[in-house]
Amino acid sequence: MELKKNPNLMNGKVFIKTFGCQMNEYDSNRIYESVSKIGLIKTEVFDEANCYILNTCHIRDKAKEKVYHEIGRVKKNFRQKKKPIVIIAGCVAQAENQEMIKREPYIDIVIGPQSYHKINDSILNYIRNKNKKEETDFETESKFDYFDKIKNKDSNVSSFLTIQEGCDKFCKFCVVPYTRGPEYSRSFNNIIYEAKQLIKNGSREITLLGQNVNAYLYKEKNNIFRLSDLIMSLDKMPELKRIRYTTSHPIDMTDDLIECYRKSKKLVPFIHLPIQSGSNKVLKLMNRKHTVEHYLSIYEKIKKINSDIEFSSDFIIGYPGETEKDFEETLSLIKKLKFINSYSFIFSPRPGTPASDFPLINENITKERLNKVQNELFNNQIRKNKITELKTVSVLVENKIKDQEKYFGRTECMTSVIFEGKKNIEGEIVQVFINKSNQNSLFGKIQFNHKIIAA
Ligand code: SAM
Ligand code: SF4
Ligand code: F3S
Repeated sequence: MELKKNPNLMNGKVFIKTFGCQMNEYDSNRIYESVSKIGLIKTEVFDEANCYILNTCHIRDKAKEKVYHEIGRVKKNFRQKKKPIVIIAGCVAQAENQEMIKREPYIDIVIGPQSYHKINDSILNYIRNKNKKEETDFETESKFDYFDKIKNKDSNVSSFLTIQEGCDKFCKFCVVPYTRGPEYSRSFNNIIYEAKQLIKNGSREITLLGQNVNAYLYKEKNNIFRLSDLIMSLDKMPELKRIRYTTSHPIDMTDDLIECYRKSKKLVPFIHLPIQSGSNKVLKLMNRKHTVEHYLSIYEKIKKINSDIEFSSDFIIGYPGETEKDFEETLSLIKKLKFINSYSFIFSPRPGTPASDFPLINENITKERLNKVQNELFNNQIRKNKITELKTVSVLVENKIKDQEKYFGRTECMTSVIFEGKKNIEGEIVQVFINKSNQNSLFGKIQFNHKIIAA
């Protein structure tokens, strides 16, 4: 019906550039599906689009400047052509709202992450009336009600599924509570329905997403559903092979969730659980609401269930107040827990957050500390990859590498594997004998009838 009203949009092409976290990737896919209803078709060719959407991230650094730089690129590209519709979505849109249109009149629509159910109307309104629009209300329910009505057509072997959005924790350094709003959990049944759709489309791995995914809590009549209920329901879906979830907060690692590592056959033996610092003093200054001891108790409970489960984390280095002693505590925690596939960032003051007013520590000291942390994390990774050499690992095959007789897949711990294999194995779990590794990847050859001896 909408198509008939808008013949001018038929064969229009939309290009989305996505920055930031997996939740933005999920949103971008859903936005593609939404705008297809008004005749905008997805393109991956920058030059041929007549609608640009920048799905932005505000978590660190010069996020805002990156967006204006990107708009400059679109402007330059279209100097000799008809101006495309330019839309700013995501967390910078939410944080900056109408200021963006004032500063850069080339922008036509600014839309925050909780208003994507209004994106089609905003585009149509702009086309008809040339009305510039800013939509930044917090109405998570309407966004997901709307997304639930559109089929999720994602057909990747590994797919994202957002189950929870927003944050009530207010760590002093973080913009998420301001850009994504309060914690909101989607309906249990709608998530299960979407998971079934994804599996029908060919997904064999589902990553349940949320800014605080393990804070998921959905109440319906007298029933309470948690992340553990979702995992155990997904576990029963025959064609699904792997389950992941990210990002979790240590304070919400409840016993029922930890028990899933014993009960579920499909939950991977790998958990991304950010600690941010190894110093209790710094954790308090950050308002993290957990201590190092609490984190260690979760680590031990999970390792007791299965000692092969690997941990990954995020670290903020050079947080205001971090002394050499605090930093050494972080370093020794990394050495002790041997985190793999982890992320470390220099503290970035974010406008509007309490920590943005705290006095910064010396830049050279911070950079030196970051180097030390990254070396330690890289060493953990190299060590982990090295011990996998001459062993056989279980790999979920994601795709064939273009123009080569090679395939790409991932281990249960998310490490990339490039290997020689037979045809039509996308979506299968295969055994790969690893003969070489570097810091980021494993290389090998598909095996048959081999016992798995490394995760
Ligand atoms: N909710 C997750 C948690 O509590 O662990 C984190 C989500 S946040 C989107 C991802 C990561 O960005 C954080 O774990 C933190 O390490 C990093 N981050 C957030 N704000 C930051 C800042 N102001 N400066 C540097 N890194 C930051
Ligand atoms: Fe940000 Fe803290 Fe919330 Fe994570 S828990 S999203 S770091 S405020
Ligand atoms: Fe960035 Fe927003 Fe995700 S700030 S990390 S896109 S929640």
